[in-house]
Amino acid sequence: MNIQLNESTGVFSLTTEHTLYQLRADRTGVVLHLYYGRRAGGEMDYLIRLADRGFSGNPYELQQNRGYSLDTLPQEYPGNGVGDFRLPAVQVRAENGSRSADLRYEGYRIERGREEKPGLPHVREAGETETLVLILRDPVIGLEVQLLYHVFPRQDVIVRSARLVNRSGEQLVLEKAASCSVDFPYGAWDVIHFHGRHNMERMPERTRLPRGMTSFGSRRGMSSHHHNPFVILCGRHATEDTGDCYGCMLVYSGNHLEEMEVDQTGSTRLVAGIHPDGFAWTLAPGEGFDTPEAILSFSGEGLNGLSRNYHRILRDQVIPRRFREKTRPVLINSWEAAYFDFDAEKILRFARAAREMNIGMLVLDDGWFGKRDDDTSGLGDWTVNEGKLGCSLRELSDRIHGLGMSFGLWFEPEMVNEDSDLYRAHPDWALTDPGRRPMVARNQLVLDMSRQEVVDYVFGAMCAVLDGARIEYVKWDFNRSVANCYSRARGADRQGETAHRFMLGTYQLLARLRERYPELMIEGCSGGGGRFDAGMLYYCPQIWCSDDTDAVERLEIQRGTSYGYPVSAMGAHVSAVPNHQTGRRTPLRTRGIVAQAGTFGYELNPEQLTEEEREEIRGQVADYSRYAPLIARGDYWRLGEMDDAGDYTAWMFSAPDGSEALVSLVMIHVRANGPFPHVKLRGLAPEAEYRLEGTEQRFSGAALMYAGYSFPQLQGEYPAMQLHFVRMEEKLHV
Ligand code: GLA
Repeated sequence: MNIQLNESTGVFSLTTEHTLYQLRADRTGVVLHLYYGRRAGGEMDYLIRLADRGFSGNPYELQQNRGYSLDTLPQEYPGNGVGDFRLPAVQVRAENGSRSADLRYEGYRIERGREEKPGLPHVREAGETETLVLILRDPVIGLEVQLLYHVFPRQDVIVRSARLVNRSGEQLVLEKAASCSVDFPYGAWDVIHFHGRHNMERMPERTRLPRGMTSFGSRRGMSSHHHNPFVILCGRHATEDTGDCYGCMLVYSGNHLEEMEVDQTGSTRLVAGIHPDGFAWTLAPGEGFDTPEAILSFSGEGLNGLSRNYHRILRDQVIPRRFREKTRPVLINSWEAAYFDFDAEKILRFARAAREMNIGMLVLDDGWFGKRDDDTSGLGDWTVNEGKLGCSLRELSDRIHGLGMSFGLWFEPEMVNEDSDLYRAHPDWALTDPGRRPMVARNQLVLDMSRQEVVDYVFGAMCAVLDGARIEYVKWDFNRSVANCYSRARGADRQGETAHRFMLGTYQLLARLRERYPELMIEGCSGGGGRFDAGMLYYCPQIWCSDDTDAVERLEIQRGTSYGYPVSAMGAHVSAVPNHQTGRRTPLRTRGIVAQAGTFGYELNPEQLTEEEREEIRGQVADYSRYAPLIARGDYWRLGEMDDAGDYTAWMFSAPDGSEALVSLVMIHVRANGPFPHVKLRGLAPEAEYRLEGTEQRFSGAALMYAGYSFPQLQGEYPAMQLHFVRMEEKLHV
């Protein structure tokens, strides 16, 4: 049992392989947080100390006990307006206008497994999963809160969420409903968050948490390029391989907020969930609301350790099961090769050239539908533009399959251009404010996915295309932020639900497509990586990481992304030089090595390659196929520290059983007479002997990990090296 209640003390212990999470309802029913961290025996009740602190008042029934204050106690799901002046997890407006909520313990359930979360992406049951449900209630307003804790012992993960139910006879309006709140009563923490912009997503920034409030989030109607719904709190001295690190990742793709508060005594609270700005969700009597899930994890083995926990849980329990073990095809995408300028013959020429290099799939990007020769028109009209193609999509897809390749297609389902038949027929299907001209971005408006008829329409339109041709893959794009988030189908008092209902509509559409086309692989995308989150990963096993395909920039983007997300989820392509975003020239070899730390593919005009380049690409595809299981299923390690502004970037994959390792290094700054790049390998069996493939050199695992490996001085523009170490015993058995 990984969830235990000590009946005599009332302490709940949630145990994973390396971690322990403890909580307890005290005599007044306040649910106290006792501990989260490295697994340890005993009960951490002794950490709760009471002190009379001025201006931290007491619950009415405990006014004689001036040491007891909600304002100073660590709690599991703090209420609002009743004496805890720190960040609340919940804010509810009762019919009389009161916004106070005081949640007290009522009971619990321990369940084997976990229930599905209908309509919301979630972490899938892992066999040994157990669930603790704590029931809390505010009898005055009749609010019941069920706190859910799903324990994933092997992954060192605890998934939290809340279900808020109106048990009163009146209406309640949720104005804030966090997925989780975690108190860290002791310790001083750095926070790492992942900020960015279009073309430079998920840049880690590490800062000391100051007193007061720090927050990150998105009000863009999408998880956003700008702030990923993932934060790490780590000890001040934590490094990539040492120290205590906590992660909190939302399984959500819409507006989100991660708030941290360091209070008067230095205790830290982390609250994460749907962004409360603009959020107002009405609960009629008896109705309930499910928050998105938050994936919590702890590692005492530094940031790499924490990342591995997230990689495993996302790979194994979040992405669609069918794609867990499946080797993804090496694809070629038409976007940077042709943009909007193509017909079927050109696409077929790309396919033939790609096939000769053993590339397995051709993806036809934007421009195949409606009237779409640039980004001013056509979105929403998901009918094949046969005039432009010169044939039907069925014929094109058949001919591509005839080459022995599979076929993929781009969609941007949640959008509409004003210049489209769809918009002309249904202008009210776009999100716009009454009487106000809407914000326009890339000439497009956002469809009101909070309306069932809109979801149904897009579903029908997509099915017609998918049924009409042989399509194994869809690239699902989302190319603007959501503004004017007003639904013409909803009353004034319900507009605060639109942003979240929009996400529910999108998730429903994704779920229906997944159900109808279980083999279809959907790659998420949002102007590159604007919706790179665990919510989208529930439906899409991979997500296009960034529109910036420059190999040097990709080093930072993919490394930043790797703190939370596995490389098997990161769409990464080799593109042409000079690079279309930066104008930089990098060697094909370097571009290949960088894209191999991802799902790997090409995004260039294959007809413009020299014979030498074609040969090199054949080699890259062969290498990738050989390393794919290690890359997709192995342990990924960042080598070097986050803030090393060094001359090179290095990373590696190790097989979980220590049988092989693949080490990659890219020089960003080559220096005359420079030092030898040096890395310490990770994840090897210390006592085993490894051979460096292509040489007779042998090393012990311990030597490679503790003494490290030094690379030769590399020369040229952005040179790169990849080394494959193979454990000797394995070879002997072959
Ligand atoms: C977005 C995507 C690109 C491409 C274009 C097409 O920017 O990120 O990869 O699909 O849209 O318009």
